[in-house]
This record gives sequence, C-alpha cells and structure tokens, in this order.
Amino acid sequence: MTWWRDGVIYQIYPRSFRDSNGDGVGDLAGVTDRLDYLEWLGVDAVWITPITVSPDSDWGYDVADYTAVQPVLGDLDDFDRLVAEAGNRGIRIVLDLVPNHSSDQHPWFVEALAAPDSSRRDYYVWGDPKPDGSPPNNWRSSFGGPAWTRDPASGQYFLHNFLSTQPDLNWWSEDVRAEFDRILRFWFDRGVAGFRIDVCHAIVKDRELRDNPPAEPDDHPYVYNFGQRKVYNAERPEAHDVFRRWRAIAEEYDPARLLLGETYVLDVERLRPFYGDDDELQLAFNFVFLHSPFTAEGLRSIIDATERALPEPAWPVWAVSTHDLPRFVDRWCGGSVERARAAILMLLTLRGTPVLYYGDELGMCDVPVPPGQRRDPVGTGAYDAGPGRDPCRTPMPWSPQPGGGFTTPEAEPWLPLSPQTAVTVEEQRNDPNSMLVLTRDLIALRRSEPDLTSGGYGSLPAPGGLWAFSRGERFAVVLNLSDATGAVDLGSSGRIRLSTRRERDGEAVAAAVEVGAWEGVVVETGG
Ligand code: NOJ
Repeated sequence: MTWWRDGVIYQIYPRSFRDSNGDGVGDLAGVTDRLDYLEWLGVDAVWITPITVSPDSDWGYDVADYTAVQPVLGDLDDFDRLVAEAGNRGIRIVLDLVPNHSSDQHPWFVEALAAPDSSRRDYYVWGDPKPDGSPPNNWRSSFGGPAWTRDPASGQYFLHNFLSTQPDLNWWSEDVRAEFDRILRFWFDRGVAGFRIDVCHAIVKDRELRDNPPAEPDDHPYVYNFGQRKVYNAERPEAHDVFRRWRAIAEEYDPARLLLGETYVLDVERLRPFYGDDDELQLAFNFVFLHSPFTAEGLRSIIDATERALPEPAWPVWAVSTHDLPRFVDRWCGGSVERARAAILMLLTLRGTPVLYYGDELGMCDVPVPPGQRRDPVGTGAYDAGPGRDPCRTPMPWSPQPGGGFTTPEAEPWLPLSPQTAVTVEEQRNDPNSMLVLTRDLIALRRSEPDLTSGGYGSLPAPGGLWAFSRGERFAVVLNLSDATGAVDLGSSGRIRLSTRRERDGEAVAAAVEVGAWEGVVVETGG
C-alpha cells in the first residue's frame, strides 16, 4: 500500500480545530488531543495549513520564519509530540510549504528592502517603473489590484501576486532554491510525511516580466472574471526543474515523502505536466472539479476528462471543500443534508486520493461572520467587500455545549462557533444514520476493498441527472443528482454495499438498480 494513493487525507486549519489552552485559538496540542477521533474516523494523513511563524496578514500564508512554529500554535516540541503520537496511530503529518512568497517581515525581505545592494535583494522579484512611473507590467494580484508595489527608497517595484505584505520570491535565484532545499530537509528530518505546496503552479515568473494577455469570453469563468490569462506569471516551464529537484529530495527519504501541489489551473489537461515523468509532484489538486456545478453531467464530464488527462500511473486527488471556498454543503448542496451525503459518497469512491476538509464529515456549513468580526484580509474590505473566506474557517463543532468542545465556555473563539448545534461530533458519533458515521463507513469500505482504492474508473451509461461509474472489476457507484427516482442498468445483479439511505445497505439489486432522488449507492456486482 502506498499511503498517499490508497489512503484518505484530512485537512486541518489549526487555528480552528481544537484549542488546548483556552485562548480561543486552536493549536498543535489541540490536534494531538483529537488524534483518537481521527484514528476512529480512519484517515491516513493530516495536512495542516501553515504552522510557521507569521504576522498573520494572510493567516500563516505570509511566512516570517520557515523553520519555527507560530507561538500561538505551540512550539517545535509540540510539533514533535504530534508527529510521534500521530505515528503511533498510523497517521502521517503533511505540512503546508509556502514557496511563492514570504512575509514582508521575513528577515530576507527586511534586508532586501533596507539594503538594495545586499545579496537578499535578488531573493525577490523587482522591476523598474515604466517611463510614466507605472508598474513594470499589467499583472494583477489574485486578491485584486496591481501585483506591484513601489519601494519609495529605491524607486523599484516589488512583485506580490497576493497581498503587498506577501512579496513573491525569485525562483530564478539559486540561493532561494538552496534555502528551500534546507527547509524541506528540516521538516522531512522531523518526520513530516510530505508537503502541500501553496501556489505551486506559479512559483517561477517570466524572466522578461512580459504583460499577460486579456482573458477571452470562452475562458473558464474564473479566468474571464479575473480579466487576464496568467501566461507569464504562472505555469512557466522552468518550474519543472524546481519540482524535479524537490522530488529528488523527497525520494532521499524512506518512505519517499509526498509533494501535493496546489495546482490552480482551470483546465484538467494542464494538470498532467505537474506529474512530470513520475519525477515531479505525486499529486496535483484539481480545481476544475472544485469549481464544477453539482450536476451529474457537469461532474461526469470533468471526471472523465481528468481520467483521460491523468491515466495510470498518474493519480488524481480530489477535495470538495478547502479553506479558500465556501464549504461544499453550501456551495453545492444549498444546505441539504441529503445532497451532502451523495457528495461525500462520490468523494470517497472516485479513483484518486480523497482529501476531507475538517467538518466535511459532519456536513458542516459555512458560518456567517459579521463584518466587525472578520479576520480574512479578503473579507475585511482592503481587497474585497465580500464575506471573504472566514465563513469556511470557523471552529470545528465537537459538542453542543458552550465553547463547542473547541474551546472553554469562557473563551472568545477567534471566529464565531457554528449555530448548528446538531452538527457536532458528539451528536453524530453514535447515530448510525449520521453523516459522520456514513463518512467513516465509506472510508472503511474503501479501505477493505482494493477495487475501491486502486481499481480503475469507467464511466457507465446513465439517464439524465444520474451518473454511474465502475471501480475495478466488481464495484459500481450510482449517483442520482436529481429530484426524481431513476434507474441505471449495471448489466449484472448485485448487492448494495452502502447507500446514503442506510436502510438499503446489504439490499440485493437487479441489473437495473433503482436510486432515489439525491441518493448514492455503492454496488458490488456479480455477487
Ligand atoms: C493559497 C492558499 O490556499 C490561500 O489561503 C492563500 O491566501 C494564498 N494561497 C496565498 O498564499
């Protein structure tokens, strides 16, 4: 078994998982506290979003020290304890690596700004103003506005594809590459099983800083709304040298460490290059899937296209929620538990590695965060007047009691607790019909049946609103993403191993299996 192919990964936003010391902020000791739960759930690895020192202008994604722990989350001893305790339960720890940019408070940038002649200057991307004083080119920040800010002392502009407090590192610099070799080894030596790599698709920039072309109406809506195609500040061919270099470091270890890229490309064909010749990333996140409509036709076409783009030995990776988007129960399911159950069954039966975002297993919804309590820079008005990403980052609801089992009843949680008191671990853990038990049973079924972990995917004919696919030799999955009962002919009778309507578990079915509105079933055929 290769854990990152056959296993399930669980994403934790550490400030929101479990507060062990009553300050209202989740921490590493809190994650250790809850390892028994994660073992019970059956996950193989935990990916924790950044835990390193940060002024938190983008909540850890602005790193000021890549090899020390943010004090509010704990220290290196807490981290070592977490790795050891997780290891005792067969759970691996994956960290977030942020190579595209640092914080403006990182000593590298402080020196680069203070001493333009220092060797640190070249750690970042600088450009001279145009003759009229405007930025070097037309690149826009992903958070809005120009991607350039002028350094008044030198008159040059520095690049930031996100906040101006997140200056982009210069991946043409051999010194930057060597710094990150050390960072990778520092954490791998401490027992880290791999990295999720932030903004992996965009680390290397065009050396000539050429202007991006405008987006076209037939581009993906996210690209079209952004207004330009990121031709020159993303997916540069030279990034593959860096990925190969990281993979070689990952392979120095036994077992080899995982490189899981945040590969934000909106065309599945463009995922393939990130895998290289099995010498770059082992897994590349699929954002086309995340942005899919929740319809049988929409999802099926994306999965089929991904299967064509990533044939064996390439291995897809799927998530339905992340810390950057509304939770899937809102985004896809309009708050419907029934639909959420079908979505989780899909996630856990596709060919590829499923990544659960904490709370997905409960059917957790976004929590409205009033403007005065917003923490995300994207939601506080500086860049965008919208709700930002706080609603999907609120504390894990462990119990219906005050403090939610996340923190003490007296403490003020850093983001508001969910008002959905029925959506807690305590309420759901012993309820055989709950979303939590469904998720756990799906993980267990997946683990017990090699067809469901490593078996191939095949699209099967199904009427409108339904989607059916085979896994391996003996399994088929049927999803009815419509309001009417439907049926799919699987060509052979069988037995429902698991349905989102749990009363059907174990039911014998004829070749034409009937599926209720918004029901999902896993059928073992030929039995
Ligand atoms: C992607 C991360 O997922 C997001 O949370 C962050 O704001 C940006 N990268 C910038 O690091």
